[in-house]
Amino acid sequence: MGRLPLLQATISETLRLRPPAPLALPHCCPLSPSSLGGLPVVAGTVLVPNLLAAQQDPDIWQHPEVFLPERFLAPGAPSRSLMPFGCGARSCPGEGLARAELFVFLGLILREFRLEPGPGGLPGLRGSPGTVLRCPPFRLRMVPCQPLGSP
Ligand code: HEM
Repeated sequence: MGRLPLLQATISETLRLRPPAPLALPHCCPLSPSSLGGLPVVAGTVLVPNLLAAQQDPDIWQHPEVFLPERFLAPGAPSRSLMPFGCGARSCPGEGLARAELFVFLGLILREFRLEPGPGGLPGLRGSPGTVLRCPPFRLRMVPCQPLGSP
């Protein structure tokens, strides 16, 4: 995977701009009072992390609304602030598997096909909000880079 850094960066940037689980999972503060970022948190409070907003925080990300995979290749990139899989003790245990799947499938598709908009064009990139951020259905034309059957 380390030999295709731009593909890795493209996956990271996609997960930054459109995290599949934009509000992660709700977490309940333990019974004793706590604090978060200096703010007091009353015991029993349910916290909902807004990953979508955190990953577009203009204090951390330059031009946060722009799709810019190269940002992850630059020295000093704020990669630790990328958290589409949550963070801490209850972060997603499937991160390694999910990242490997994204890498293999996207890499193979981009190696073998040129992607073109299908009938109806491309959908907007806002997505439908919900527990999982979903893209409306759309069609793509996948044109083989090499003619089918060629060696
Ligand atoms: C792109 C794919 C995925 C994304 C974006 C994602 C994201 C997340 C997020 C944001 C959480 C909540 C973390 C938190 O509460 O702070 C989570 C939890 C979890 N994920 Fe994933 N996930 C993905 C794929 C997977 C896969 C492939 C598996 C299993 C093979 C998995 C299993 C779990 C489990 C079991 C939890 C609950 C962990 C806990 O509560 O301790 N996820 N995931």
